[in-house]
Amino acid sequence: MQHLVAPSMLSSDFTNLQSEIEMVNESRADWFHLDVMDGMFVPNITFGMPVIKKMKKHAQKPFDVHLMINEPDRYLKDFVEAGADILTVQYEACTHLHRTIQKIHELGIKAGVALNPHTPVSVLENIVHDLDMVLIMSVNPGFGGQDFIENTFNKIRRFKEMTTKLVQSPMIEVDGGVTLDNAAQLVEAGVDVVVAGSTVFKSDNPSATIGQLKDAGQTKKV
Ligand code: DX5
Ligand code: ZN
Repeated sequence: MQHLVAPSMLSSDFTNLQSEIEMVNESRADWFHLDVMDGMFVPNITFGMPVIKKMKKHAQKPFDVHLMINEPDRYLKDFVEAGADILTVQYEACTHLHRTIQKIHELGIKAGVALNPHTPVSVLENIVHDLDMVLIMSVNPGFGGQDFIENTFNKIRRFKEMTTKLVQSPMIEVDGGVTLDNAAQLVEAGVDVVVAGSTVFKSDNPSATIGQLKDAGQTKKV
């Protein structure tokens, strides 16, 4: 499977959200990555269900919603109704992670778990069969524009070792500090979904940058 590219809308121009969404629609991006922050789990506050619901009216690609919030169970249904196609919760914010994943599946969408940089992939050993995706955070969650943490490559490798015997392995998504310099290496390491915020939206030509991320790590056929 060719890797997917999910631009993080956190770095987009919120005063021109509709045209930013249309740019992503028309680009080679696969998903919209939407970062929900509550000012508790992370120090930042972003947007919630009402904004996502409005965005959904213009978007023509799936919504990959990353919940950086405490006790996400309180809002799972609301985010599904707002338009989430895949919901990812933070491992560190869930006491009963298995129940949370079950609830997301009962709501009819895909479920992912995100791991902070300090959280080892081994904590997912007993739930990995139930996941559609693991999101390996390559920065500390809360803000766009931070530097990529290199240990992410070790975590990707360990996660792949852990899941080799599974019939269906969860997709691996990497989020934070992804650039045109490290994207190819991530794809070669086995990443299925590349999230990029600043790299896309701070570039002169966001659509072309999405294209470059899409081509990263692909061996050219002659
Ligand atoms: C960070 C968010 C990321 C962020 C990535 O907490 O989860 O999705 O938007 O931004 P960049 O690509 O700028 O690091
Ligand atoms: Zn994110």
